[in-house]
Formats: sequence, structure tokens, C-alpha cells
Amino acid sequence: MQNNKKGLFITFEGIDGCGKTTQINLVNNYLKSKNFNTILTLEPGGSDIGKNLRQILLHHEGFVDDMCELLLYLADRAQHTASVILENINKGNIVLCDRYIDSTVAYQGYARGFDIEKINFLNEIATKGYKPDITFLFDTDTDTAQKRIGNVKDRLEKENINFHNKVRNGYLELAKNNKRIKVINSNQTIEEIFDEVKKYIDEIL
Ligand code: TYD
Repeated sequence: MQNNKKGLFITFEGIDGCGKTTQINLVNNYLKSKNFNTILTLEPGGSDIGKNLRQILLHHEGFVDDMCELLLYLADRAQHTASVILENINKGNIVLCDRYIDSTVAYQGYARGFDIEKINFLNEIATKGYKPDITFLFDTDTDTAQKRIGNVKDRLEKENINFHNKVRNGYLELAKNNKRIKVINSNQTIEEIFDEVKKYIDEIL
């Protein structure tokens, strides 16, 4: 395990509607059944301050500048990493986090168009350089994902299909160059997807 930390840090990524929330809950139940101490958390919104930032990021009505959006996600990450993630890992817990650094690369980098190197630098600052031990990328086509989202959409989900395709392709590009990221074909049943995830979890435990 990296950085001599005691716990484990597992992140879940993918486009909106990819089914990651179902899988994170299944992983949580699986680990609890094996008597591991887990904490389930998310970005944006996993810390006290983050709850307010999530409200702004997902539900603010009216103009939001792209740079403002980017920096709010990073502010959320800094507070969350410092007050929730590192603390729990240092206690020896397994932290399961719904979205983390790769979301910013995919959404604000590949989809909004910010320079990826700059995002990597900002992520480095916000996380103090700390990285997940393993990341699951739930990959599904954007049509299937849109159907799963349904009609009630938040600010990001309301972006057009072109945006979501850029996010998806960005994630896949990121996974190509990063062994930490495991791509899971999410056009399968919930059980089939979980079987794949479980194999990696068993390996890392
Ligand atoms: P999510 O919690 O997955 O949405 P939901 O609760 O509807 O499942 O994610 C919130 C949104 O924020 C999602 O559209 C992706 C976006 N996001 C970014 O654009 N950049 C980021 O760095 C993060 C963490 C999320």
C-alpha cells in the first residue's frame, strides 16, 4: 500500500448514469460482511463545507463561470481530503469514495476544455499528492446512461450528449495511461458488474 498508510482508499468513477452508486453500495456491504471498517463518502459534498459547495455546484441557477466551477470542485476536494479521507485512512478504515480526482480531469479537463496538466497540478495541491489505491471506472454508452438518469437532472446532467461523450472518452483516455484505474464494462447486469469489481477487491485486500 502506498505512503505507508494503514487503510485503503477506493474510488468510483464514470459518466452520470453509469451505475456507480449501486456498485459502491454493493462493495460497502461486501466489505462490511467481511468485518472491515468502511466509510462511504462522495464528491462533491463529503465534508461539512462540501455540503454547501455541492448545493452550489449541482443546483445553482444562472451563470456559473467554468473557472469558478473548477475551483469549487477543488476546494471541496481539499476540505474532504483533509477532514474525512486522510483521517479515516490513518485510522485503518477503508474509504469508498464516489468520485475523486479523475472526475475533474474528465469533466473540467476533457469536457470543459481546461488544460489537463493544470488540473493535475491543482489536484496535487488539493489532495496533498495522495492518490487512491484503486479506482473503478464504470464505462457505459451515453444513451444507456441518459436513460438511467431519467428526467430529473442536476446542472451537470443537463449538459448535452456531446459533453457526456467527451467525459466518457476523457475517462477512457485517462485509464489507458493509468494502471490504478480498472475499466468495468457497465453495459452488463448489476450482478455481472459486481462480480468483476469483487475480483479486484479480493486481490487488493
Ligand atoms: P454525482 O454525485 O455522481 O451525481 P449524482 O448524485 O446525481 O449521482 O456527481 C455530481 C456531478 O458533479 C456529476 O455530474 C459530475 C460532476 N463533477 C465534476 O464535474 N467534477 C468533479 O471534480 C466532481 C467530483 C464531480
